[in-house]
Amino acid sequence: MELNGQVALVTGASRGIGAATAKLLARHGAAVAVNFFQSKEPAEMVVKSIIDAGGKAIAVKADVRDRDEVAAMVKKTNDELGMIDILILNAGANVPWKAFIELTTEEFENKVVGEIRGFFHPAQLVIPQMIERKKGCIVGISSGLSRHPGFGFSSHTTAKSGVDGLMKSLALELGPMGIRVNTVAPGLTMTDATSWLPKERVEDAARMTPMKRVGQPEDIAGAVLMVVRDDAGFVTGNYISVSGGGLML
Ligand SMILES: NC(=O)c1ccc[n+]([C@@H]2O[C@H](COP(=O)([O-])OP(=O)(O)OC[C@H]3O[C@@H](n4cnc5c(N)ncnc54)[C@H](OP(=O)(O)O)[C@@H]3O)[C@@H](O)[C@H]2O)c1
Repeated sequence: MELNGQVALVTGASRGIGAATAKLLARHGAAVAVNFFQSKEPAEMVVKSIIDAGGKAIAVKADVRDRDEVAAMVKKTNDELGMIDILILNAGANVPWKAFIELTTEEFENKVVGEIRGFFHPAQLVIPQMIERKKGCIVGISSGLSRHPGFGFSSHTTAKSGVDGLMKSLALELGPMGIRVNTVAPGLTMTDATSWLPKERVEDAARMTPMKRVGQPEDIAGAVLMVVRDDAGFVTGNYISVSGGGLML
């Protein structure tokens, strides 16, 4: 229970990687704010499973691209759980899977600007309470595609490269205030976001991975836990690939 007494806010925690992360942090003692946008019931199920297991959690609605909604989410978290110690920036914008030449300006902007806004607002609105207490830990969920592009993923690679740059900048600016910032970069992970992939493509990806399988949301959650623990207290500004060895840097 090494996160006992700490409060975590996980964006996009109603499903997939965010949901697995919220549950794991709660299992290790954190009180967790489970952010959702459209999936109210799944978010409430995540909260129920945490509470049933003896943990503490609330569901909080906010479109992370909207500053006012994020401000209200932070306030509700503070009012109901306390000051935020751990911020997991996970919610990402939909990926239009298309050759670059076919992308519309709107699709590109929605992905790139939407994704960065969704990291910018929660970070900017939570960091002041971390600075005040000279303590905090932020994890940005990027993607292995930020370092190694894939066909049809140019907008995703661009957005996640921006995420990487933002996380490194925050690590630099916030280190002197005792706040650690790291990037966790999943490889292909089986969630709703990847359920459209043909079975053969997933099998190919598994075959090309040293560990001979693709990721599950719990694999990514485990890496997040590893980096937010106090005994990782000197780890900041890092990019942690969670890909079964599929991406070695
Ligand atoms: N799956 C992969 O293979 C993979 C690989 C590399 C990186 N990633 C990254 O991992 C993160 C999570 O992906 P995932 O696969 O777990 O996705 P997912 O299963 O599709 O879940 C997406 C989550 O993000 C939330 N969300 C989307 N837009 C939001 C918004 N504007 N405001 C608040 N929440 C929002 C959704 O909430 P609602 O349902 O409530 O709307 C949902 O909880 C993303 O940043 C993604 O880019 C995933």
